[in-house]
Amino acid sequence: MTPLIEMNNISLRFGGNQALSDVSIDLYPGEVVGLLGHNGAGKSTLIKVLAGAYKADSGQIKVEGKEVQINNPQDSQRQGIETIFQTLALADNLDAVANIFLGREKRKGFQLDEDTMEVEARKVLDRLRVKIPSLRVPVSNMSGGQRQTVAIGRAVYFKARVLIMDEPTAALGPEETQKVSELIQALKAEGVGIFLISHDLHDVFDLADRVTVMKNGRVVGSARTDQVSQDDVLGMIIGGVVPPQLR
Ligand SMILES: Nc1ncnc2c1ncn2[C@@H]1O[C@H](COP(=O)(O)OP(=O)(O)OP(=O)(O)O)[C@@H](O)[C@H]1O
Ligand SMILES: [Mg+2]
Repeated sequence: MTPLIEMNNISLRFGGNQALSDVSIDLYPGEVVGLLGHNGAGKSTLIKVLAGAYKADSGQIKVEGKEVQINNPQDSQRQGIETIFQTLALADNLDAVANIFLGREKRKGFQLDEDTMEVEARKVLDRLRVKIPSLRVPVSNMSGGQRQTVAIGRAVYFKARVLIMDEPTAALGPEETQKVSELIQALKAEGVGIFLISHDLHDVFDLADRVTVMKNGRVVGSARTDQVSQDDVLGMIIGGVVPPQLR
């Protein structure tokens, strides 16, 4: 099977700070890959390269086996890659409908087609089975779980083949976290490939088929979650130690 995504030998420097050194990672259809590592390890930077927010200094990105140039967020979206960023996932002052269609609004002639966008937004959020009383209040008035659903709704509406989630449950309570886990499993079952960044090892082990651990801008190692224990992975995160079964 061809990977949905291959990032090969990606390097990126911010001034004197080598944020990514020769990072390679891949993702298959219907697979959840957990991206782990300490604060500052380079996880968000790596996925921002894939999302078109940063341009790598060197390296290659392939989508379904074909090399692609991702120079901006539109290039990434055009490849079916949707991203839920760690911060600023939504525009706070806009409502759910506007957030789902942000930058990709539907128009009727020169006017925004608000009615169609609202109907479509309602459909996609109903499909995700999360109750959102009003789609027309600013999302800043919504709960963390509802906001996360709006962000996921946007990805689902635009038919993501690849979904990048950077700390999707960090601000959520247990019930909302459970809901997001269910959404991840449903998308996975539809063949969507998901990069999941999380500090919660327990969640990652529940959801991910594989993990890739980063430290100081490098990949320590990758493993299937049935090959390694949580302690093994902690050793990779903290000490950069690759467990014997992966050597
Ligand atoms: N826009 C930027 N300009 C300069 N340096 C940056 C920028 N973004 C990230 N960095 C640096 O790059 C390194 C990697 O940061 P990154 O945000 O990718 O880490 P992370 O693994 O996502 O951490 P966290 O778990 O805290 O979110 C850090 O040293 C960070 O300070
Ligand atoms: Mg980060």
